[in-house]
Amino acid sequence: MSAKIVSPCVGLCSTALGDSVCRGCQRSEAEIADWLALGDGPRASRMAELDALREAVAGEWLAVTDRERLDAQLARHRIRVRPEQPPLSRAVELLRVGRERIRDLERYGLTARGPGAGLTAAALHAGLSQALFAAAESRRQALAQVADTSTSAGIAMHETLLTAEPDSSAESLLPPDMLDFLACRTPDAWIAWALDNPELLLIDHAQCEKKAASTAMSLLYRYVDQPLLLSKMSQLAREELLHFEQVVKLMENRGIQYRHLSAARYAEGLRRHVRAKDPERLVDILIIGAFIEARSCERFARLIPHLDAELAKFYRSLVKSEGRHYEDYLMLARQQAPAAIDDRVAFFAEREAELIVTPDTAFRFHSGVPA
Ligand SMILES: [Fe+2]
Ligand SMILES: [Fe+2]
Repeated sequence: MSAKIVSPCVGLCSTALGDSVCRGCQRSEAEIADWLALGDGPRASRMAELDALREAVAGEWLAVTDRERLDAQLARHRIRVRPEQPPLSRAVELLRVGRERIRDLERYGLTARGPGAGLTAAALHAGLSQALFAAAESRRQALAQVADTSTSAGIAMHETLLTAEPDSSAESLLPPDMLDFLACRTPDAWIAWALDNPELLLIDHAQCEKKAASTAMSLLYRYVDQPLLLSKMSQLAREELLHFEQVVKLMENRGIQYRHLSAARYAEGLRRHVRAKDPERLVDILIIGAFIEARSCERFARLIPHLDAELAKFYRSLVKSEGRHYEDYLMLARQQAPAAIDDRVAFFAEREAELIVTPDTAFRFHSGVPA
């Protein structure tokens, strides 16, 4: 019987890694859990809803120019689609599977448009995935609101599932590619140092959020001719300022006085290697942005098991948000670079790891270990 149940699952299942909605099928965690219990009718309407969401978002980035060619390529690469699946929803799947191999979109019956124009298939997929994730998250929130206010909903959106604490260890919240990206894990000595300095941790955390917003703002001013960069940095700056407000509020609640702190050596230790001329300069700044975001995520995740419930919950939400920032920075670095950035990423991975594992004089959110 279950073999006949239609599902949009493509096997990515990123909710298992802590995402609120799946990056593969755009369903919420609760919706996935309840999928089998839905009747055929509600399930079909959910499928249509998810296809419509994909069509709407993908339509900003892509257009289907040759439906036959698209279907022929899907068949050739053995990518499974549903008979009723609309063309752009199919294209999303094609791009997900083939993004590293596709050189010429026209050969796949597609053309890039809007923020996707001029991007490689991999960069287009990265940008489109982020946009899909954001749209799916908005949908999840809308569904959760409906479930909250209705007792006769066709689907039981269990609030406990929407807000449940992940039962996996905190580090499992981090995507494997992010852990590979970082050349080292935070040493235990830093964790102990942080737990000995709870006030400094929050004060410097507030500083970091403010600095992250300011870096994004400066890119907004300097690179006005880059539409994707502008939209990503504008969104990122807003989110970082929101984080800043949240940290400051937490500090107030805990009676921690906000005071000025000298800057950590970390950001400057990376920035000093930035090349002088564009596009290399911008590529380096974006790669560094990816490292700062990834390291922040890793440190939040490492700290979570040791924190009180309120702070742990807050840091868990930041892991997700800063994780998206990491992906955005890396996607933009790839988009801006005239060639592959692997060597440059490897270079900064080494510099970053040095700053993380070597003795440092002052405790900061991104400091090394105690001297
Ligand atoms: Fe942040
Ligand atoms: Fe961030």
